[in-house]
Amino acid sequence: MTAVTVRVPAKVNLQLAVGPAREDGYHDLVNVFHAVSLFDEVTVTRAEPGPSRLSVAGGLDSHTARVPLDGTNLAARAAELLAREAGVEAAVSIHLAKAIPVAGGMAGGSADAAATLVACNTLWRAGLSDADLHALAARLGSDVPFPLLGGSAVGTGRGEHLTPMPCGGRFTWVFALAEGGLSTAAVFGEYDRLRPDAPRPEPDPSLAAALAAGDAPALGAALSNDLQRAALSLRPELRRTLDAGRAAGALGAIVSGSGPTCAFLAADGAAAGEIAAALAESGHCARTVQAYGDVPGATVLPPSAG
Ligand code: C5P
Repeated sequence: MTAVTVRVPAKVNLQLAVGPAREDGYHDLVNVFHAVSLFDEVTVTRAEPGPSRLSVAGGLDSHTARVPLDGTNLAARAAELLAREAGVEAAVSIHLAKAIPVAGGMAGGSADAAATLVACNTLWRAGLSDADLHALAARLGSDVPFPLLGGSAVGTGRGEHLTPMPCGGRFTWVFALAEGGLSTAAVFGEYDRLRPDAPRPEPDPSLAAALAAGDAPALGAALSNDLQRAALSLRPELRRTLDAGRAAGALGAIVSGSGPTCAFLAADGAAAGEIAAALAESGHCARTVQAYGDVPGATVLPPSAG
């Protein structure tokens, strides 16, 4: 085996309830992750020992240009961490074929890191268990464990303690991609400025019920994101994007995670087409993509497909 390709999904947050800043700078969350059919493919290939070589393709040009291609990339750090843990020499090149927006609030960098852990574990026959991989993922970032799991799950703590949630239907989504990204840390900082009195985050039982029942109108009504106000404060033009999707019949419209991607829940595929067309016509987004959820987490592709 000289190369392994892993396909990994983006996430949208169905609920993102954010508590006050903790002493370590992080925030306690109730973070309902939902994996959607917008996939990056990460290929790790055996290479000379030394720092991982990175390459990237796909997605919006303005996005891929911002992917760091050095050791600071979370995927490179994932390969190094796994090598240390498994007691092998890190000797891979990593290719990221991107469909997930970069710095878009859909955990693309976290997804690539999760995929790299799975790919290197397979390539090096390191034999780490799912629990081992989850622990390494949590060390890399709060959003890295979820793409290993996929489906729908609630994250507590800083988002890394995951409990799967039942999803009783297929939900259809439209995502409005924006030019440029938003820094997660900057959005949390703006949140602290706007909400110094943030209450303890609590799960929303109506959201869990709507998800379990596959009830799209109820899920649309229950979507919530405490970071939305902060993201809109930093990028006020996103309000027009949300309004355009709502006017086109979206059952729910929210900023995805820390943004700037906006997520619209559609009643069905036809409604999604209408929302996407209206968003494109409005000129208030760079591109739209349609996807469905939930979908499984990081999956090793058969060699012929890789
Ligand atoms: O965990 P991760 O490195 O992905 O987090 C990126 C940044 O997002 C952190 O440095 C922090 O500013 C913010 N964050 C937070 N509370 C969380 C998760 C992330 O404040 N629960």
